Amino acid sequence: MDNKVKVYLDNNRSYQIIIGYENLNDLIDFLIKNYTNSKIAIITDDNVAKLYLESLLNALSTNKFINFKIIIPAGENSKSYKYFKLITDSLLENKIQRDDVILSLGGGVVGDIAGFAAGVIRRGVNIIHIPTTLIAQVDSSIGGKTGIDTSHGKNLLGIFHQPKMVLVNTKYLITLSKRDFLSGYAEILKYALINDINFFEWLENNYKNIISCQKKELEFAIKKCCLSKANIVSEDETELSGKRILLNLGHTFGHAIENALKYDDKLKHGEAVAIGIRLAYELSLNKGLCTKEDLCRVKNHLLNVGLPINLDHINNTLSIDDLYLPMLQDKKNKDGKTVFILAKRIGKALPDYNVTEEEVKEVLAKLI
Ligand SMILES: NC(=O)c1ccc[n+]([C@@H]2O[C@H](COP(=O)([O-])OP(=O)(O)OC[C@H]3O[C@@H](n4cnc5c(N)ncnc54)[C@H](O)[C@@H]3O)[C@@H](O)[C@H]2O)c1
Repeated sequence: MDNKVKVYLDNNRSYQIIIGYENLNDLIDFLIKNYTNSKIAIITDDNVAKLYLESLLNALSTNKFINFKIIIPAGENSKSYKYFKLITDSLLENKIQRDDVILSLGGGVVGDIAGFAAGVIRRGVNIIHIPTTLIAQVDSSIGGKTGIDTSHGKNLLGIFHQPKMVLVNTKYLITLSKRDFLSGYAEILKYALINDINFFEWLENNYKNIISCQKKELEFAIKKCCLSKANIVSEDETELSGKRILLNLGHTFGHAIENALKYDDKLKHGEAVAIGIRLAYELSLNKGLCTKEDLCRVKNHLLNVGLPINLDHINNTLSIDDLYLPMLQDKKNKDGKTVFILAKRIGKALPDYNVTEEEVKEVLAKLI
């Protein structure tokens, strides 16, 4: 299997995702070829720094790259104004220029906030993502969506800023916690559900090998997701034609749940997406789109894998309105209406711009 996936973009912005095991050399080769005289800023979080920063710093120093590091606390709460200011101040203090390079080393939180900072500093500095979580390796590092959360909702401040390359090193996943790993699995499942029934069937047969980190199956699944995301982004970079919006399956509900829980670590992003996927299928069933068998099959798969399908395991006093109101701030809203990605069946998703408040609340009631 070729270890490279290309994201095709206009104006010379195409880039490669290189997938491998212990492949830091590929990054160094790319830097030597393209950025010999550039300064390098590494942005990471304190968990990842303890595990993987030293080897990256060594590789850069050995190859005479001048570099400096910015470390933020781990967790969704760092995807905030506060740490955006810390990062941009530090980049400016270190006089980062447009032809320099930012390396984001971490999960979706680091990638999103570092990408946002890279996109706005001096109106755009180069960034390379080195994703270290499963979510980041199959999803967030690809496609240029960046941003931070606000009290009004998730990812509400951000821009599109494409990386110059993405380095997927599957060895990083060995140290990931079980919950973070499963969180990433929810995004893998999403790709199967939106456009690939064969992949879903393969996941039903192989999920145990993936969640036990078997190299062959894990790399196959990661590559499949990277290809799917690369194709969608190449076709619809900024969510204009409607293709990219399908990647939000489970996310309208998921983001609202995360917001209602104030981005508390009690629920990880991928866990919220898993619950959101279940609710999207419930809504699809209620609207006569998918069958009860489809819903049961998806719910069973989520449960077999070990992902949540409700909030029963979390102490909460949420009301239906607590979950419903954040949806009114969803980025995808059009003409005042919230857009939901629904399922016609497994492997076929479609956007629906005409879901009523009553229909949404009927489904949300399943979590209360
Ligand atoms: N930009 C996009 O297109 C996009 C897509 C999907 C998700 N996201 C965003 O991604 C975020 C979630 O990403 P995430 O789950 O990676 O969260 P995260 O970055 O918070 O990482 C989860 C935890 O894993 C730790 N960690 C990271 N790599 C590790 C490793 N190799 N070993 C051990 N621990 C490690 C982190 O320190 C953190 O505690 C959300 O904010 C979500 O909105 C963005």
